[in-house]
Amino acid sequence: MISRLDGPNKVTGRARYGADNNVPGMVFGHVVLSTIAHGRITAMDVAAARNAPGVIAVYTPFAPLRLRTPVSPFLGATWVPLQNTDVAHYGQPIGFVVAETYEQARDAAMLVGVSYDERPALTSMRDGLATAQDAPPAMDGAPPSLAVLAPGVESIEDALAASPVVVEATYTTATQNHAAMEPHSAVAVWESGGLTVHSGNQGSDLVAAALADALGLDLARVHVVNPFVGGAFGGKGAASTPAFLAAAAARDLGRPVKAALTREQVFTATATRPATVQRLSIGADEDGTLIALRHDSWSSTTATPGFVEPTSHGTSREWYATPNVAISQKMVPLHVPPTTFMRAPGEAPGSFALESAIDELAVALDVDPIELRRRNSSVAPPGKDLQWSSKHLDECFRLGATRFGWAERTRRGRADGDWLVGLGTATAMFPALRFPASVRVTLRDDDTAEVATSGADPGTGLLTVLALIGAESLDISPERVTPRLGDSALPPGGMSGGSTATASAGSAIMIAAPQAIDELLALASGPGAPFEGAELSYADGRVLAADGRRMTFGEVLRATGRRSIAAVGSSAPGEEMTKHSFSSFGAQFCEVRVHRWTREVRVSRMLGVFDAGRIINEQTARSQIIGGMIWGVSAALHEGLEIEESGRPANGDFASYLLPVNADIPDVDVAFVQYPDTLHNPVGARGLGEIGVVGMAAAIANAVHNATGIRVRHIPIAIEDLL
Ligand code: MOS
Repeated sequence: MISRLDGPNKVTGRARYGADNNVPGMVFGHVVLSTIAHGRITAMDVAAARNAPGVIAVYTPFAPLRLRTPVSPFLGATWVPLQNTDVAHYGQPIGFVVAETYEQARDAAMLVGVSYDERPALTSMRDGLATAQDAPPAMDGAPPSLAVLAPGVESIEDALAASPVVVEATYTTATQNHAAMEPHSAVAVWESGGLTVHSGNQGSDLVAAALADALGLDLARVHVVNPFVGGAFGGKGAASTPAFLAAAAARDLGRPVKAALTREQVFTATATRPATVQRLSIGADEDGTLIALRHDSWSSTTATPGFVEPTSHGTSREWYATPNVAISQKMVPLHVPPTTFMRAPGEAPGSFALESAIDELAVALDVDPIELRRRNSSVAPPGKDLQWSSKHLDECFRLGATRFGWAERTRRGRADGDWLVGLGTATAMFPALRFPASVRVTLRDDDTAEVATSGADPGTGLLTVLALIGAESLDISPERVTPRLGDSALPPGGMSGGSTATASAGSAIMIAAPQAIDELLALASGPGAPFEGAELSYADGRVLAADGRRMTFGEVLRATGRRSIAAVGSSAPGEEMTKHSFSSFGAQFCEVRVHRWTREVRVSRMLGVFDAGRIINEQTARSQIIGGMIWGVSAALHEGLEIEESGRPANGDFASYLLPVNADIPDVDVAFVQYPDTLHNPVGARGLGEIGVVGMAAAIANAVHNATGIRVRHIPIAIEDLL
């Protein structure tokens, strides 16, 4: 197993992130944020800021940098700052001060006076429920409400009414900020009519397209570079406010501009995971066989509706076998920071509700929760004919139960001194997707190779995985392969999102590599070449002739006077979509200890067993899963953005926004059952970037119930919930 290739650069500080770039003549921009949640800016007094030391420009909606709203087929419309005087949430970008130094820009930004025509703000999910609207269709086109009913069943209500056992409950989940280690930032350099932007993101070609669109530029003149990304997971999918403002100001001023959000600004000037309210109704037979499943969801969005957390849609496209399923998906527009994708959008908070409700059913029926899940395992998505290409969820549970000591679980937990100990479990599912991607494979005359694509490695391990798949496809050792990512000048790799990158880019490599080898063989057997006219094959990095002669590809290139040979391969989802359904699966286990007197909850053991097809690199795969599982602990016990009535976040900084630290996390055990899924893509790997978070919050809440008998139906779970 090889170690993460970008690891040494990252831990020694050699990795250069977007804002680490410094350019001669560079100036600094600081973003000004609104201090009301709803209304209109009537005036901005910028005289004091304009006259402050070092200030070069102050941009506002009254003196804006002209930006158009970019619309991508992938992300929809991206909001651009300063284009009008409307304020839709507290902490919205409303100005941009550019100065010779960062400190001068920040100080001058404090001097900007803003007058508002303030209007009443709606900031609480509870108050907003009354104004809920149907959500727009999901990304896969699913309508906001849908039902699949067995023949002769009139409604989901009838199916529930006819069920011998019914569990009904409402669950809520909190707004989460991505809180990525690298705050959103950009360095924009404008030279000879072209724009270069260094900025952490999830897909440099997508950000380049957004900036070109916003600035009215030919895409060929925009270059976006992001070899390293300090965390993203949905939060850097779209171009950021610093990227738009730095790019536009650099053009306006004719100087390079650096802009970075402060940590506090990240909490309002980027986008969050929505808060959700979810109502579950499950009807079952006495033996636990599901008869009806109903999942109604409400997701917060910003006031100009944006991203909706597809919690119910997740239930309708995966999960359990049931003859009757009905879902609805509503949105609640609020004057709160914008919403966007966050790791396992839909499934992460959706599984808290669904997998808590399944646990409640297990308790009601006095059936083991794993046995209940096994009885209702699906062979296809609810209401669909296309069966899962490969599903080994039962094996995940079997293996996990043995490894975790599930057999020792009792119905009421156990006591260990002053600690109440409980075990919990949950299913994890996340759809296996892939997107169009192109990768260039280059053979070089020094017997090394390069695989290159514009996509991003936001800590996922993609860089390492590309090198490995490249090495395998070229039949050479991984040390000889240089992977390159994060540059919009490279073949378009799309977005590192949706747990797709390995399947998407890996498939493209498997198309490009044989093409490069074919070209090599043609070159080697061409007129005047060392193997002129010979029948050739390729293995082990070498060209082989039938008579036993052989040369490495580097030797062939040198002998023919070539520095390199390259091929670009492109892959996209195809016919397989008409033959099977695709998902990754997993079984989550955890042990919690709840203190009898203080009621603090400690997670003492965690195990996740996953079925994600072939694992290309166990180290980075494990790290992805561990990160996801810890994200689940965070959701269950720590994280939640609290919005005050005024719209101001009460905990919009790292002093008060709780995230788990080392002391909160035990050793995390991860196992994979490996069944390469070549029905999904030639690499055989299904996505695993997001599934690690799915189910974990429910597993913890279920363990808390096992330990204490208290069912908490909201996350994060607080001490006061367990008094
Ligand atoms: Mo993501 S939420 O896979 O960008």
